Amino acid sequence: MIIAKTREELLEQLADWRQHGDRIALVPTMGNLHSGHMSLVKLAREHAERVVVSIFVNPTQFSEDEDFEEYPRTFERDTRRLKKPAADLIFAPEVETIYPFGLTNATTVSVPRITENFCGASRPGHFDGVTSVVVRLFALVQPDVAVFGQKDYQQQLVIRHMSQDLNLPISIITAQTVREADGLAMSSRNLYLNDEERKIAPALYKVLSEIGTKLQDGRRDFEALEAESAAKLTAAGFVVDYFAIRRAMNLEMPDRDCDELVVLAAAQLGHARLIDNVVITI
Ligand code: PAJ
Repeated sequence: MIIAKTREELLEQLADWRQHGDRIALVPTMGNLHSGHMSLVKLAREHAERVVVSIFVNPTQFSEDEDFEEYPRTFERDTRRLKKPAADLIFAPEVETIYPFGLTNATTVSVPRITENFCGASRPGHFDGVTSVVVRLFALVQPDVAVFGQKDYQQQLVIRHMSQDLNLPISIITAQTVREADGLAMSSRNLYLNDEERKIAPALYKVLSEIGTKLQDGRRDFEALEAESAAKLTAAGFVVDYFAIRRAMNLEMPDRDCDELVVLAAAQLGHARLIDNVVITI
């Protein structure tokens, strides 16, 4: 497994693979890898001969009051984990490699509309940071395929929209959410939960799953369902940021006949902001 820290090291290896006709898959991450990330690597393997995993804690997607400084950085452990299921190359650039003109003079890629609500509303500028770094990683690696997690539902949709709108020749693949045994979606930010909060945390997925069953059973009073579910989470100790039933394809308001729904939720539990979702096909 190769570790490339500079643009030159990355491009040299990629050129070699391309000469052999290998397809290249990219899995962008911010490190602190867990089984959720590993499932993306495995899926990437199924779609390409070569798998590149990028590890870069991207400063532009954190606002000033967020956890950029305390975000867990575990590079040694991450490289050990990536030996199996093997990534072929870890791209671990410095900020200057990704933003050669500096952070304040960097070109920004901004996707309208689909970024306005939910995490986009709660975290102003967050998605501009995500799309701007992902497009830079795409430009450097020029992958055939890129894999993202359903766990960050809005993020993968935003990236799909960006790629389609910019005509990027990259297939975007979405991997299912990997969960702990009790249902909690794996996340680097679960580290911020204390023991008591960790016991409460699985309620988020439980409430999402319950609403899924109710929708399958034919309930269509979306607003009442959202309010009931948010109240359950509040009672369990969460501070609910949003809880919404939307069209899975674009996060717009659904009508009664919509047959692909997503239920999205974000809630604060102690120091951790947890997000999760379920997709319901009716
Ligand atoms: P990060 O939070 O490290 O996540 C990297 C990828 O792993 C994302 O596509 C995310 O959706 C996926 N992922 C996280 N937890 C998962 C889980 N439990 N199951 C399946 N997939 C999971 O998301 C980012 O980094 C950044 O915003 C990034 C796209 C790298 C841009 O900086």
